[in-house]
Amino acid sequence: MPNPRTVTNITDAQHTKEGAGVFIWRSIGKQDLPELDPFLLLDSFGTDNPDDYIAGFPDHPHRGFETVTYMIEGSMRHKDSTGAEGLLGPGSIQWMTAGKGIVHSEMPEQKEGKMQGFQLWVNLPAADKMCEPRYQNIDPKDVPVVTTDDGAVIRVLTGTANGVTGPVTGISVDPVYIDIAMKSGSTHTQPITPGHTTFVYAFEGSIEVAGTTVGINQLALLSDGDEVTLTSQNTGRAILISGAPIGEPIARYGPFVMNTKEEISQAINDFQSGSFL
Ligand code: FE2
Repeated sequence: MPNPRTVTNITDAQHTKEGAGVFIWRSIGKQDLPELDPFLLLDSFGTDNPDDYIAGFPDHPHRGFETVTYMIEGSMRHKDSTGAEGLLGPGSIQWMTAGKGIVHSEMPEQKEGKMQGFQLWVNLPAADKMCEPRYQNIDPKDVPVVTTDDGAVIRVLTGTANGVTGPVTGISVDPVYIDIAMKSGSTHTQPITPGHTTFVYAFEGSIEVAGTTVGINQLALLSDGDEVTLTSQNTGRAILISGAPIGEPIARYGPFVMNTKEEISQAINDFQSGSFL
């Protein structure tokens, strides 16, 4: 017998500033939801006012976790301390495992027009926190799109939906990350591993998650279970994200996320002495 998940809580994202002055909507990583193990942060950005994004995210470090950028519209140029550089265009995803440390920048590659997307931070278990940094840069053409008979359009970034598996692989918390666009009458039932933390974040219109309406810039947290059913009465678009909780202590200081205060001090020392890549 299936054990459907239900919505246990809905939280409104908070409008705030990040980077050098980019306006974002933060749902995970705010005061009343500091983390959602294994997820540390979720920012949604979406604006057609260049003043809200033009400052970008100049050089900054990360250690101990993963940053995931998914672009819906617009383009960001990514550069890092290993010399790697790339353009993140509409529909692309970058899964960056910062591991023992990286310094990077993400700057808009446009001076006008709409910029929309997400940044998700995913924690690493203690055993993987100091791994070698690694990237998975996925072009939109490599993201499979499933269209159901009733009109749901599902982009599978990682994990499996409707028998199709996404291109991002080998991630510690065994994540699912899908983007679901629905029109009136669309239905999608997503299998989810029991015990995995799972949420849905709506960014266009509204979506019914197990019968509960989730509107723009709302995050719905799900109960445990092995599947969830999404429907739409009008049109809506949302991301569904799931991952295995890590269950370890979190010591967090800005862009460093470790297990102990001592490891944070070490990260600050290593960064200041220039021993990041
Ligand atoms: Fe970053």
